[in-house]
Amino acid sequence: MVQLHVTNSPFSESQAELLNRLLPTLTESQRIWLGGYLAAFGGAAVAPAVQEPSAAAVQEPAAAAPAASREVTILFGSQTGNCQRLATSLSGQLKEQGFTVNVSAMNSFKTNALKKTENLLLIVSTHGEGEPPDNARSFYEFLHSKRAPQLEGLHYSVLGLGDTSYEFFCQTGKDFDKRLEELGGTRLGLRVDCDLDYDEPAAGWFTQVIGALNERVNAPQIAEAAVEAAEHADAPASPYSRNQPFYAEVLENLNLNGRGSDRETRHLELSLEGSGLAFEPGDSLGVYPENHPQLVEALISAMGWDAGETVPLNKKGETGSLREALLRHYEITVLTKPLLEQAAKLSAAPALQELLLPERQQALKDYIHGRDLLDLAVDFAPWKATASEFVAILRKLPARLYSISSSYNANPDEVHFTVRAVRYEANGRQRYGVCSVHCAERVQPGDKLPIYIQSNPNFKLPANPDAPVIMIGPGTGVAPFRSFLEEREVQGAAGKSWLFYGDRHFVTDFLYQTDWQRMLKDGVLSKLDVAFSRDTAEKVYVQHRILEHSRELYAWLQEGAHIYVCGDEKHMAHDVHTALLTVIEEAGGMSAEAAAAYLDTLQQEQRYQRDVY
Ligand SMILES: Cc1cc2nc3c(=O)[nH]c(=O)nc-3n(C[C@H](O)[C@H](O)[C@H](O)COP(=O)(O)OP(=O)(O)OC[C@H]3O[C@@H](n4cnc5c(N)ncnc54)[C@H](O)[C@@H]3O)c2cc1C
Ligand SMILES: NC(=O)c1ccc[n+]([C@@H]2O[C@H](COP(=O)([O-])OP(=O)(O)OC[C@H]3O[C@@H](n4cnc5c(N)ncnc54)[C@H](OP(=O)(O)O)[C@@H]3O)[C@@H](O)[C@H]2O)c1
Ligand SMILES: Cc1cc2nc3c(=O)[nH]c(=O)nc-3n(C[C@H](O)[C@H](O)[C@H](O)COP(=O)(O)O)c2cc1C
Repeated sequence: MVQLHVTNSPFSESQAELLNRLLPTLTESQRIWLGGYLAAFGGAAVAPAVQEPSAAAVQEPAAAAPAASREVTILFGSQTGNCQRLATSLSGQLKEQGFTVNVSAMNSFKTNALKKTENLLLIVSTHGEGEPPDNARSFYEFLHSKRAPQLEGLHYSVLGLGDTSYEFFCQTGKDFDKRLEELGGTRLGLRVDCDLDYDEPAAGWFTQVIGALNERVNAPQIAEAAVEAAEHADAPASPYSRNQPFYAEVLENLNLNGRGSDRETRHLELSLEGSGLAFEPGDSLGVYPENHPQLVEALISAMGWDAGETVPLNKKGETGSLREALLRHYEITVLTKPLLEQAAKLSAAPALQELLLPERQQALKDYIHGRDLLDLAVDFAPWKATASEFVAILRKLPARLYSISSSYNANPDEVHFTVRAVRYEANGRQRYGVCSVHCAERVQPGDKLPIYIQSNPNFKLPANPDAPVIMIGPGTGVAPFRSFLEEREVQGAAGKSWLFYGDRHFVTDFLYQTDWQRMLKDGVLSKLDVAFSRDTAEKVYVQHRILEHSRELYAWLQEGAHIYVCGDEKHMAHDVHTALLTVIEEAGGMSAEAAAAYLDTLQQEQRYQRDVY
């Protein structure tokens, strides 16, 4: 059988790899069946950016499992809420078809029940650099340990969420899928890996797994029900969602940094009036940005295109001008490997094909880092594609998430958020963060911003208002804690609260300083510890303050405090985690292993929650 590649087929490398794995395993009758299936349903059940051979292609014949169970376990691992919402949506659809469904976060699942589980659906994202989300970590470690049981009786499938701009795309989903196979499980359907625009491929996977489960129990399929939008479970009180954003009027847009600061952090207030949207502290705001107009003009000029030419705006058949498409609809600032693979078919320059050769992986990685579509357009000209053909290979411009920095109960019909402008130079050109610079430079009071609420069940105040809270949020990481404290003030919560905040300079970078001072005075905030990193010869960070107060912090934990960490994921969150372990070890008189177990338990009990990015 001919090996498929990007060069001899219309598939991306990951799709070709999957087909190369699947096709040789098919029997003659399976091939004939698959041909018929694709002819009948081709395009309806599958989406382009996924690894999506038909579930039916790998499921067991219906007759082989006549007494299959109608019980389905759905486990999700989710940091920012997407997988959790999908799990809830899938559960609703399975219940409508008569299945008994148990939905749970991976780390709340009793692993000793795994051996008895017959039908398992995993929905999991990837965070960090190819790591599991916090609420998947312990399950991930268990499954990859020697304690994991053999799972011959298990029928499973994995839906992975991720972002193709990361090196380890959907790594956690891939790891689970491989591990369950190693443990003897049988796939109900092949894994689907979703990019940021996950609705369509997720709906395709729903259709596959529901179909496969129905086949197992010999029940007639109600395929239509499965292709419902993944937004199913979003705030039912409002018609607005990620797929249908609300155009919120901007009420305020202030720079929080003082004169002379080398940073710019904007505080925006938006009106939610008439939207029906509401939120809880810990939720995020999704904002659809516009690309920088200068970059759009430069790209159009470099390609020699006509800005007024009509091009597709999306896959739904809507059209508009090329300028409109590049400003508001397509991502032009991020290069990914799948994009370059598609672009290679449109470039007349052989250099792009060469860059994609397997032995040039590092060169490809280096090229992608810090470059955008304008670089690509210039570096690999001439192009043999029309503007319409070119935009067809671009990703949809994704929304950016911002921690909401106000309480809905304290400010009804408003939402506040806090945005730090991202500006840097790379490869000889000034670069602008799409959304943060849009908010900083081109959004005025009176303008409207397309937004939605991204609820985050994994970053929530304690249900008990008497429970103490410890909040650690340097930089923009402090944003959700303004929301937390405003909420606690409205509630009249009796629980103590302690904020650790840090930034570069006390004088210019103390975000929301007057808010914290008022809250301290009014007793809404019990303690505030700050670390300004560039006011002293030696850098001081929040974790240094944490370590200075280890006895008191441990005492708060023993009293039932909940700890929250928000902000930088790459360094701060890891260093703070290490500092917390040290506190527990030293103040609690524990071994390193016991301290790690203590913190794991807090995480398990949702008393240690992180919203890191
Ligand atoms: C749950 C969540 C909550 C968040 N909350 C907040 C918040 O409250 N406030 C806030 O400001 N942000 C927050 N963010 C981050 C926010 O979503 C955006 O990622 C951020 O504003 C940058 O978006 P942008 O469109 O401006 O930049 P983009 O156009 O997306 O550019 C950012 C990218 O530029 C690249 N880059 C940046 N600096 C350099 C450099 N020096 N060299 C090379 N490449 C570089 C990196 O790849 C980076 O990912 C949050 C993110 C998440 C996931
Ligand atoms: N694009 C960029 O150029 C850029 C730059 C920074 C952050 N970011 C990203 O933006 C998000 C939040 O950044 P932000 O600007 O709000 O704040 P930030 O960069 O995280 O800075 C806030 C404070 O944290 C300090 N800090 C740096 N490293 C730390 C560590 N390991 N532990 C504890 N504190 C540390 C900083 O000190 P010092 O700065 O003095 O070290 C500063 O005082 C993160 O996702 C981060 O990765 C992007
Ligand atoms: C800080 C951060 C790190 C991420 N790292 C990866 C990664 O390494 N690989 C990947 O495929 N996706 C990565 N993603 C993308 C997420 O997996 C994606 O946004 C997903 O939809 C999140 O789903 P969740 O809300 O269920 O967590 C990352 C996202 C964030 C915010």
